[in-house]
Amino acid sequence: MKQEHNEEDQFYYPSKEIVRHANVKEYEALYRKSIEDREGFWAEEAKKLSWYKKWDKVLDDSEKPFYKWFTGGKINIVHNAIDRHLKSATRNKIAIIWEGEPGDHRTFSYFALNREVSKFANVLKSMGAKKGEVITIYMPQIPEIVIAMLACARIGAVHSVVYGGFSVESLAERIHDSQSRILITADGGYRRGKATHLKEIADEAMKRSATVEVCITVKRTGEACYMENDRDFWYHDLMAIPLECRDCTTEVMDAEDPLFILYTSGTTGKPKGLVHTHGGYSVYTAATMKYVFDIKPEDRWWCAADPGWVTGHSYLVYGPLINGATIMMYEGAPNHPFPNRWWQMIEKYGINILYTSPTAIRGLMRFGPSWAHRHDLSSLRLLGSVGEPINPEAWKWYHEVIGRGKCPIMDTWWQTETGGFMISPLPVMPLKPGSCAKPFFGNEIGIVDDHGNDTKQGDEGNLVIKNPWPGMARTILHDPKRYVEKYWEKYQDKGWYLAGDSARIDEDGYYWIIGRIDDVIKVSGYRLGSAEIESALVSHPAVAEAAAIGLPDDLRGNVIHTTVILREGFAASEKLAEELKNHVEHEIGPIARPAHLLFTDALPKTRSGKIMRRVIKARAQGLDAGDITTLEE
Ligand code: WTA
Repeated sequence: MKQEHNEEDQFYYPSKEIVRHANVKEYEALYRKSIEDREGFWAEEAKKLSWYKKWDKVLDDSEKPFYKWFTGGKINIVHNAIDRHLKSATRNKIAIIWEGEPGDHRTFSYFALNREVSKFANVLKSMGAKKGEVITIYMPQIPEIVIAMLACARIGAVHSVVYGGFSVESLAERIHDSQSRILITADGGYRRGKATHLKEIADEAMKRSATVEVCITVKRTGEACYMENDRDFWYHDLMAIPLECRDCTTEVMDAEDPLFILYTSGTTGKPKGLVHTHGGYSVYTAATMKYVFDIKPEDRWWCAADPGWVTGHSYLVYGPLINGATIMMYEGAPNHPFPNRWWQMIEKYGINILYTSPTAIRGLMRFGPSWAHRHDLSSLRLLGSVGEPINPEAWKWYHEVIGRGKCPIMDTWWQTETGGFMISPLPVMPLKPGSCAKPFFGNEIGIVDDHGNDTKQGDEGNLVIKNPWPGMARTILHDPKRYVEKYWEKYQDKGWYLAGDSARIDEDGYYWIIGRIDDVIKVSGYRLGSAEIESALVSHPAVAEAAAIGLPDDLRGNVIHTTVILREGFAASEKLAEELKNHVEHEIGPIARPAHLLFTDALPKTRSGKIMRRVIKARAQGLDAGDITTLEE
């Protein structure tokens, strides 16, 4: 049944089928209830999970903004994502369907996933892994990345996944900050028909950051690897050792014990390691997944994000597994060997829900609708979008060509910091292309000016979250002060969380995200910081100073624009520009490669010496730079 569309009010209305299927039939009443009794709402959701010991208190706000959830409770996310399913028919259900880029595929039932996770958890223990220690994972999109994450969580170790598209310095910095003793990686993976060389990058990173004592490598591509005695081990060798006991009991954790660290780019300096916990995060990902994507036991769910980003953590791994769903996972590029690759897999595996980014949609849109039309996409019931605002044109294409006019699109706004969806439609809500609709249950979200006053309806303002929620990051690893400064200081007296985005609310109460208000740059939905790119440039011997900004781009959302001042003795040239771009790619990764690199003699700075990126941005776009009274001549 097609969704009805009303040109006048812009709305796309849900069909009867969608409403019949929905886990929540009516938003407003339940939303009101969740706000009136937030703790009651979250307690109800928490009860749906399996706890070793029930919590004493739902929310402990005695040390704001360091909120705690479900204190006194004992839980482990793996107990909910795997263990409890082994006692029901879910035991024999497919947990993961995986397809490699070359076309190879593997599937794991919940039973098999448990076996692999147990084995690998025992391997980690045999390497001395301890509860609370941080283990770094740097892998391509292969099932072993999920196994490694779950194995860490099972023994109470804290995983820190570094996206496989990152390169040497990004990896070294994250290993160093978390002081990881164990690194789990792979020889490489496949992307656009070529093998990547992850182990080589890992070797270089381990040289820069000397904390790693044990490196476990999965053989994926079979390319030759340097293996250092007593440090490097092959995953398959370790997994073949008959360990005394193949079972591995899941560690009983406090609800507030850390589950993982995920580094994300901020405004200044090095990436921040955000800390998420076993208890609140389990409850939040389970509930958001269930209500927003109406997940049902018979569903085959595909989150096309990489596990190395928060979307992969929450909605490729934990949310769906807690809900007992079947996960689709694909290793490579959407257009390899042809632009119908995704549509082919949707048909082949009968995928019901697809969750991806506007960039991916725009990228596939370029090739025209015929690639999708060649496939039967009738299994799809719902679609999702995340990572950046989706432009109405891409929304409509996604809706019409992929969703055949029948599948509502859940445009979910959230962040690494929030752990799960904060603003999103539900399938039963009327939709407007480009709007992420309304706050998720329990959340009050304001659009305010610098003084905390609501902006006039329709006007842009800072997006703030006015309440704590179970999925919130608890702190920044080793740097609680920065956590307070970055997120809570601006509206300290009100106790609001500053998201770093600007947005507006329309006459129907629908939210529209405009973009970042800080120096975070979203390139193809990937989050990068100006500071990271600048420090990569300055680490090159030719560069004295550098500034990086994001410029709007039709395909990728933003591209990186850099301006560089050279050191004495170096001359600007095409060749040097190319070399510097390559250098950034080598240090951070291909996603950080600047699209433009200009040489200059001076950068606009404030009197206190801060680079005025706003001015560079305005100039690069040929716009008026606005108020530049603080600009130093
Ligand atoms: C942006 C990704 C518009 C936003 C889950 C946010 C979005 C940042 C949306 C967080 C959306 C995410 N519409 N913008 N649906 N979802 N963003 O931490 O700027 O990688 O602050 O988390 O992505 O990026 P992060």
